[in-house]
Amino acid sequence: MVQKKSKKMKRLIDKNKFGPWAIITGASSGIGEEFAKQLAADGFNLVLVARRSNLLEAIGLQLAKEHNIKYRLVIADLATEGAIKQITEATDDIEIGLLISNAGTGKAGKFLEFEESELKYTIQLNAISHLSLVHFFGRKMAKRRRGGILLTGAMGANNGLPYMANEAGTKGYIHSLGKSLHTEFREFGVHLTILMTPFTETPVLNKLGFTKENIPVKPISVKQCVTESLLALSKNKVTVIPGLKFRIMNALVPGSMARERSGKIIKKNNGLN
Ligand SMILES: NC(=O)c1ccc[n+]([C@@H]2O[C@H](COP(=O)([O-])OP(=O)(O)OC[C@H]3O[C@@H](n4cnc5c(N)ncnc54)[C@H](OP(=O)(O)O)[C@@H]3O)[C@@H](O)[C@H]2O)c1
Repeated sequence: MVQKKSKKMKRLIDKNKFGPWAIITGASSGIGEEFAKQLAADGFNLVLVARRSNLLEAIGLQLAKEHNIKYRLVIADLATEGAIKQITEATDDIEIGLLISNAGTGKAGKFLEFEESELKYTIQLNAISHLSLVHFFGRKMAKRRRGGILLTGAMGANNGLPYMANEAGTKGYIHSLGKSLHTEFREFGVHLTILMTPFTETPVLNKLGFTKENIPVKPISVKQCVTESLLALSKNKVTVIPGLKFRIMNALVPGSMARERSGKIIKKNNGLN
């Protein structure tokens, strides 16, 4: 009885408006996995996209069992051009009402020391794959005159990010594309929100050299990040920065100061001297 009540209270986003299916990229870990959990709890059927099939399969099975939902897996490398075809073919016969375009990665380093091919790989994954997904599913949603799109950006990229320059560029693209389309898509009844991700507890932080000891601000949980994002998408906010302290930081710290400080921290944490 108690469980039933708390499940009802959990509702963050309306399946009738944004369902019946949601597609989530980068669903095998971190923020994407948490989107899968919270959307399954709200009754959405899920298309889960990432490269690690074992993780995706375990997540899908668990959520189907817990919430009585359907799921499909698309094992795809979004840094390759063929991935979008895999996704469109796998979703041809179902109605996707919600796109969580979230997959992405980053690697700290000195710009001039990366190979050009590595930089282009990141652009394909962090920018072009999002563009293809928004274009494909956006058209379908506009035709149905309902739907929702969430694009995962990065608060830290707002002012440029030394030693992650290309990643910051790709997130800048997402931010600007998303803000523009937020207005264009309103006339079709399609919501679009950009998640300006602040420090959030996922494996990516360790990969970028952050530890509990050296991180400048305590990260928020994936749960908080995703809950606030879904509420913002439901209200069709143009952007969301989960976590009050991060909203305050974003509003008060001048861009030049944030950029210089972040650059110093990334350089130091990754031994880039
Ligand atoms: N956590 C933070 O503090 C933070 C801050 C700013 C922005 N972000 C953004 O948040 C998003 C999610 O990251 P996260 O923090 O949740 O990190 P994460 O736990 O490492 O998750 C990244 C997800 O992206 C998928 N992915 C990576 N490369 C892929 C590829 N080539 N093809 C398909 N899927 C791929 C991964 O799946 P597979 O490895 O299985 O393919 C994984 O599911 C990213 O866009 C990231 O830039 C996070």
